[in-house]
Amino acid sequence: MDEDPCYRLLFANRVMAKDSSSTLSVDEFFDIRRLLNDYAGLWFGEDARPLMERRLRERVMASGADAFGDYIERLKAGGVAELEQAVEACTVNETYVFRQEGQLKAFQRRVLKQLERRERITIWSAGCASGEEVYTIGALVLDAGIFPPDKIRIFGTDISRRCIARARKGIYSASSFRSGGSALFERHFPRQSDGKNRMVADSLRAICHFRHGNLIKENDSSTLGNVDVIFCRNVLIHFDDTSRRRVVTCFHDRLTPGGFLLLGHSESLLNQATSFDALELDEDIVYRKPSIDDLVHRRSMVPKP
Ligand SMILES: C[S@@+](CC[C@H](N)C(=O)[O-])C[C@H]1O[C@@H](n2cnc3c(N)ncnc32)[C@H](O)[C@@H]1O
Repeated sequence: MDEDPCYRLLFANRVMAKDSSSTLSVDEFFDIRRLLNDYAGLWFGEDARPLMERRLRERVMASGADAFGDYIERLKAGGVAELEQAVEACTVNETYVFRQEGQLKAFQRRVLKQLERRERITIWSAGCASGEEVYTIGALVLDAGIFPPDKIRIFGTDISRRCIARARKGIYSASSFRSGGSALFERHFPRQSDGKNRMVADSLRAICHFRHGNLIKENDSSTLGNVDVIFCRNVLIHFDDTSRRRVVTCFHDRLTPGGFLLLGHSESLLNQATSFDALELDEDIVYRKPSIDDLVHRRSMVPKP
């Protein structure tokens, strides 16, 4: 059969298609980078080209494109569905329960204390991946005992629909429990009968809500209303400066006066002019939107002409 010239041609074409689809040229990399940046705010340095090539190769084939060039045309013409898939393929959804434990404990002891006079509390975990962060925050707020459960709402949003579906299930394997905090695990994530996985307790599930949302699209978060605390950890580090500024401005608008923004360890607003105050919280920096009283006080300190 190998001798059949038609077969040989078909075989050669397949090999060519596979070879060309598996190589992402510099110009193609720039094209995809711009599309992902416009759509999701993400930014990939040039050293990410081999990784992007590897990760998108499967999408090239799944979309029916015969090479990266063709795939790019499909990305441009295909609306958000393929863009979502491309973002999914190129992003990291790493997360676990009680990640950055020090910051979370400081949040429970110090930030919640500053908000205790509020009648209810709403918290937004922006870029929550598969939900462990949302449930951890929920467990800490429940355990603090400051707000009754019916006055607590924790929202998690992510651009990945696959992650949001996982978060809603609330069933996690051992890798999600790699940090300390075992008492918290036992109380809020009881083991399933198989002895391996843990499932979020009903009392915790009742206060946690998940939605698909793109941080670059302001409308996606407007339905959350105003929130008292925003966690956006290990997300903005993957954005370019302009997108980061845009998202931080949106966070400022969403927060109630006196509300808090908590970022990941390697993220900060230090090089960014914002209207947030930076506060030291144990070993961390948190950002606070000035309260009405702060603003009145500051205005009164400005010398009169
Ligand atoms: C590394 S995970 C961080 C998860 C969690 N915040 C933590 O620190 O453990 C980053 C998440 O950001 C999400 N993400 C990236 N770009 C986004 C965007 N434009 N809008 C919403 N989520 C985004 C990714 O899908 C991913 O799940």
